[in-house]
Order: sequence, then structure tokens, then C-alpha cells
Amino acid sequence: MKRVPTALVTGANRGIGREIARQLALKGFRVFVGTRRREAGEAVLTEFHKAGLKAEVAELVVTDMASIARSAAWISSECNALDVLVNNAAILEDEGQEILKLTPQMLLTTLETNTLGPLRVTQAFWPLLAKAKPGRIINISSEAGSLSSMESYAPAYSVSKAAVNALTRQFAAAGRRDGIVVNSMCPGWVRTDMGGANAARSVSEGADTAIWLATEASTRLTGRFFSDREEISW
Ligand SMILES: NC(=O)c1ccc[n+]([C@@H]2O[C@H](COP(=O)([O-])OP(=O)(O)OC[C@H]3O[C@@H](n4cnc5c(N)ncnc54)[C@H](OP(=O)(O)O)[C@@H]3O)[C@@H](O)[C@H]2O)c1
Repeated sequence: MKRVPTALVTGANRGIGREIARQLALKGFRVFVGTRRREAGEAVLTEFHKAGLKAEVAELVVTDMASIARSAAWISSECNALDVLVNNAAILEDEGQEILKLTPQMLLTTLETNTLGPLRVTQAFWPLLAKAKPGRIINISSEAGSLSSMESYAPAYSVSKAAVNALTRQFAAAGRRDGIVVNSMCPGWVRTDMGGANAARSVSEGADTAIWLATEASTRLTGRFFSDREEISW
């Protein structure tokens, strides 16, 4: 009998993360909705349920190693393998600030969630991803973190996403040994709490490339940066 594929999405109680979780559930994945607060995850489940979809809540704060370890232990006891990890949770707190006024504290706070979060979660779930053969990791990055086109917009956020892209390269190298593919993607400018109401894209459009990387994309594609299913420059 074919194993039901499994997926964990961090920061999946709202925005692009919730949409990625919804679309993976629709495709038949057993989905773990990563969320800081259980009630927020339960609200997502209720919504999914109304649409005939099932999912489970994983209480997971990407800045808290103990919560990550608890989720990893629980999901490992529930599943033989994790097919997809989407590192989606992030914060944007310095929009419109300029680098000359960026405080080290703002940079540290942003790196703590946006960069060290994916580092911690990926390390914790690596053994379970290695059992999926292949496991797929999708790091939700941003073109704001692209070194080739970076401008002043949100300096801490941009640096944190450039660093996520570097993590993608590092983990992709380790993944060649362990049968895990690791890619970054940019969802575009999306209507969420982070992107705002005037953004160009729906959450469904923003989720598309992540869903493609999680399901259809060739497993030869690893250590790359995508937007609209096309490779883009770092
Ligand atoms: N929206 C855009 O235009 C855009 C553009 C480029 C890239 N992105 C990227 O796309 C991803 C999703 O963005 P979004 O627009 O959907 O953002 P969003 O609506 O602000 O949602 C962010 C999610 O991350 C969670 N989160 C934040 N800190 C966390 C922590 N320490 N532990 C666990 N979860 C945490 C939030 O949980 P709470 O509800 O508990 O706060 C929320 O679920 C992010 O990586 C973002 O950088 C977005």
C-alpha cells in the first residue's frame, strides 16, 4: 500500500503558509499546520474541515528549540517519514527603515525568526526528511533577499532572507548525501498581513511555486532559487 505523503508547514495559521497547507491537504498530504498557538491552528482546522479537508496542529515556535524538539518527537512518532518541510514562518518589522539607522537589535530579532528559525526546524526534522527518499525542503524566501537586485527596503528582513538563501545552499549540499532536496522560492508580493491589502497577488498565486516544488518539480532541482516556477538569480 502506498504511504500517505506528509508535510509540515511553519507559520501555517494565516497568510501564505495557511494556503500552502490547504493546497497540500487538497492534494492528499497528511498536513501538520505549524502554529505558535494551538487555538490559531484549531481555527484553521475548523475552516479546512468545512471544505472537507483534514489536517493536524503542530505547536511550533521557530524561535523556541524546546517546542521544535517536541513537535519533531511527536511527528516522528506519528509518521515514518516527512516528505515536505516548508519553512514559511517569518516576520517583517523594519519595512521602510534605512540601513544607516538599523539597530543591531532589530537585525538580531529578525534573524532569530527568519534565519535561525529555518536552521533549527530543518536540523530537527532532517532525520525524518531523510527517510522520505526524497525529502523536499522549501524555504520561503524573498527577492528582497536577492543579492543581485537588493535595494534598501527593509534591511534586516533583506539580510535575513539572503541568509536563508545561503542556508538553502548549505543544506542542499548536505541533502545530496542524504537524499533531501532543498530550494528557496519567492512568492511575489502577496495580499497577507505582511504583504498588505494592495499587494498584487492572491495567496493562491503566492503559494503556487511552493506547491510545485513540494510535489511536481524534478528532484534533480536542488540548491536553487525560484519564482513563478522559474529559476532566478541569488
Ligand atoms: N506577503 C508577501 O508579499 C511576501 C513576499 C515575499 C516573501 N514572503 C514570505 O512568505 C512567507 C509568508 O509570509 P506571509 O505574507 O504569509 O506572512 P504573515 O501573513 O505575516 O504570516 C506569518 C506567519 O509566520 C508566523 N510566525 C511568525 N513568527 C513566528 C515564530 N517565531 N514561530 C512560528 N511562527 C511564526 C505567524 O504566526 P502568528 O500568527 O502567531 O504571528 C504567521 O503564521 C514569509 O516567509 C515571508 O517572508 C511574503
